[in-house]
This record gives sequence, structure tokens and C-alpha cells, in this order.
Amino acid sequence: MPQQGGAGRDIAPATGKLGVMLVGLGAVSTTFIAGVENVRRGTALPIGSLTQMGTIRLGKRTDHRAPKIKEFLPLADLKDLAFTAWDAIPDDAYTAARKAGVLEPHHLEPIADFLKGITPLPAAFDRNYVKRLNGTHVKNAPTKRELAEELRQDIRDFKQRSGADRLVMIWAASTEVFLTPGPAHQSLAAFERAMECNDPAIAPSMLYAYAALMENVPFANGAPNLTVDIPALERLAEERRLPIGGKDFKTGQTMMKTVLAPAFKARMLGLAGWYSTNILGNRDGEVLDDPESFKTKEESKLGVLEYILQPDQYPELYGNVFHKVRINYYPPRGDNKEGWDNIDIFGWLGYPMQIKVDFLCRDSILAAPIVLDLALYFDLAQRARLSGIQEWLSFYFKSPQTAPGLYPEHDLFIQQTKLKNTLRWLKGEEQITHLGIEYYEKA
Ligand SMILES: NC(=O)c1ccc[n+]([C@@H]2O[C@H](COP(=O)([O-])OP(=O)(O)OC[C@H]3O[C@@H](n4cnc5c(N)ncnc54)[C@H](O)[C@@H]3O)[C@@H](O)[C@H]2O)c1
Repeated sequence: MPQQGGAGRDIAPATGKLGVMLVGLGAVSTTFIAGVENVRRGTALPIGSLTQMGTIRLGKRTDHRAPKIKEFLPLADLKDLAFTAWDAIPDDAYTAARKAGVLEPHHLEPIADFLKGITPLPAAFDRNYVKRLNGTHVKNAPTKRELAEELRQDIRDFKQRSGADRLVMIWAASTEVFLTPGPAHQSLAAFERAMECNDPAIAPSMLYAYAALMENVPFANGAPNLTVDIPALERLAEERRLPIGGKDFKTGQTMMKTVLAPAFKARMLGLAGWYSTNILGNRDGEVLDDPESFKTKEESKLGVLEYILQPDQYPELYGNVFHKVRINYYPPRGDNKEGWDNIDIFGWLGYPMQIKVDFLCRDSILAAPIVLDLALYFDLAQRARLSGIQEWLSFYFKSPQTAPGLYPEHDLFIQQTKLKNTLRWLKGEEQITHLGIEYYEKA
């Protein structure tokens, strides 16, 4: 018997195709697309994807109800996904995947024709925002407003060409230079005026987000750029009842940080310092070698500890933490990043201890399943008429967007609970509080 926790939401069925529009056809996007195609052909498993591999417990522990998430909710089926992308480099998905060097030939060669069929649309690109990239495959228009209109046309064309019923857009392009919200970002009217007069406050990523929302397409931001994290676009999303979210896929080092830091705090262990360094040699690493793009990433990576540890509430434990994050471009490693963490903690009576983490990860292998889950959940959110910032998807982001005045939740397991409770709520199932008193006080 299902335990009813409320009415749930009417969710429109996932009929027809879901078009996934990716901004950027680099390491992450090609690993995602090629991975989905391998899974569809039965040659690999979608490991790392909660929507594909995960289950959800429903009702009491004694009920033994734990369906797969993809069976519990009407998510789009992988066979119904269609892909397109924009990129400032003209390589098709096969060439881009080969250059990225993430997947081995046995995952690329059998699907080479499929990948070669995905050629990028010319990008709305401006080198002032990504200094280390020489984009040649770009749109030319006198104003940013006109660039946005061209992107809108691309969206309409793709929908028609692919026969997709629904679309989602995900930013998986390079990290842009650091921007802070300013007057041009405060209202839609100011934003549109700023596009018309080519205001530098309007970055290319914002044009994609604007175009998506104007075409009723949900938008998720996988990089730390400001992009859709501004009042003008947040309000546009609410008005048009569209889901948005970001920022920055939470994959390697930060994922570990949001697991370890909550553990220290749960046990009231102090933290003196956390030094995180990375070496990576892919194009993302090259772009992040530019101080202005690195600044955007640094802000995203640094915020995490402050919010989890709440130094205001625990000054003796976390009032004086030295936190440093470095990213070093080191070409021999390619996409295989190495992230080292040296963590200085202290315990009972202040005695110091150290923890060392050396994560030899594969950046895009960790990011690809996140792209898949976000595409499926943003589509679900739209069909369930969830609009504005999708905080329940914070699980996937390093720097989650939240409502104004609300601090972001970074603890991976609180984020997971929030995500699963949202899924239960959507279906009218009881929330799981983990109280469990009913198993003991039976009277
Ligand atoms: N891999 C991870 O673990 C991870 C985690 C968090 C965030 N990210 C972010 O995801 C993004 C993609 O990472 P990647 O490794 O695929 O990088 P990548 O350099 O391989 O690919 C990015 C692509 O974006 C293109 N591009 C840049 N500006 C563009 C624009 N305005 N329009 C269209 N295309 C544009 C570039 O030409 C490039 O091909 C980066 O911003 C990265 O910081 C990655």
C-alpha cells in the first residue's frame, strides 16, 4: 500500500523525444553523448547516474519498497534523447571526443558515424570572456541582442529538425571570466537594453540562457559563470514557469570536500586549514590557467567550506580556517586530473591531526552522468510545472543557486535527502524523516 504523503503533482508524460542542447562540445559534452549512445547500444553501463542506477525508498523500512528512480518517475527514456551543441571550435563530436582523449577507441569507433553526425552550431562567443580560447566557429552580429535572436532561431530550428517534443539546455562550455551582478542584471528591461548596447556586463553564457528561456527551454549551468544567477533571468524563468539552476558541476575534489567537511562538523572536530591543489591537462585546465577564469572557479570552490562549517556559530572550531584552492595546468595529465587535499584538523583538547586525500580522478567521467541526470530532471521539472531555481538539484552543483537571502546547502547527503524527498513529494509519497520511532513505540 503506498503511503500517501500528499496530493503530489500532475506530471505530463514523457512522450516523444527530448532534445538536449549543449553549449560547448568539449570533453564533458562528448563524454556524455558518447556514453549515452554506448548505454543505448548495450555496450556500457551508466555508472554514476542516479536517474539510471539509483533506487528510492518509499514508506517504512519494513515495507521493502525501493523502486528504481527511473521506474518511479516518468523520466525521459535514453532512447528518446536527441543531441545538438554549439561550439566555437568546428570539430564534430567524434573529432572533439578524440581530441579530448577521455574515452578509448572501443567506446568511440563503433559509434563514430553517430558522433560525426553531431556537428556544432556556430557559437555566440567572445574572447574577452574566455581569454585562452581562439574561437573560429562563431556568429557575427552587430549587437548581443541580435546574437541572442540567432540563438533563439537555432533552438527553433533544432526542435523542428530533430522532431523533439521538449528541449533542455545545459551549459558545458568553458568557464568565463569572473563577473559580479550589476545594474544590467537587475531587471529584464535593463538586461535587454544592455544587450542592445553591447554592455560588457552581458556575457555570452547569458545570451544562451536568455534565448533558452524565451523559447520555453529549461536551462542548467554546469560552469561557475554568473549566467542565469541574476535577478533578470531568475524572474524571467519564474514568469515563464521554467526551471533553471546552477552553478558548476560538483564532481571530484569539491564532491569529496562536501562529504568530509560535514563529517568533521558532525563530530565537532576543528579545522585549522585545508589546502587543495589540482593538476590537469585538458582544455578546461588551459582555460582555467587564465587568472580571470580561475577566479570564477576559485570563488565556486571556496564557498563550500564557509557554508558547511558555519564559523559564526562555531568560532572555536572553524573561526580561523586557512582555505586555499589551486588549479595547475599540466598537459601530460590530459583529462585525468589529480586532486590533492591536505587537511589539518584538531580534536579533543586541541590536539592536531592530518588527513591527506589524493584523488586520481577522470574529470569528464565524473561529469558526464551529472549532465545526463540534469537533462532528465530539468525536463521532469518542466513537465511537473516546477519553475525558477531548482534548489532540490543542488546535489549536482558546487555552487548551488538559491532564493535571495537563503544560504546554499552544500552537504552532499543533505542535498541527496532533499532531492529524494522532492521526488517523493512529486508523487504524493510520504517524506522520509529518518525519525523511526514507530519501529520502537508501537502502542
Ligand atoms: N569535468 C568536470 O569535472 C567539470 C566539473 C565542473 C565544471 N566543469 C565545467 O564544465 C565546462 C566544460 O568542461 P570541459 O572539460 O568539457 O571543457 P572543454 O574545454 O573540453 O570544452 C568546453 C568547450 O566549450 C567551448 N566554448 C567556449 N565558449 C563557448 C561559447 N561561448 N559558446 C559555445 N561553446 C563555447 C570551447 O570551444 C570548448 O570546446 C567547463 O567550464 C568546466 O569548468 C567541468
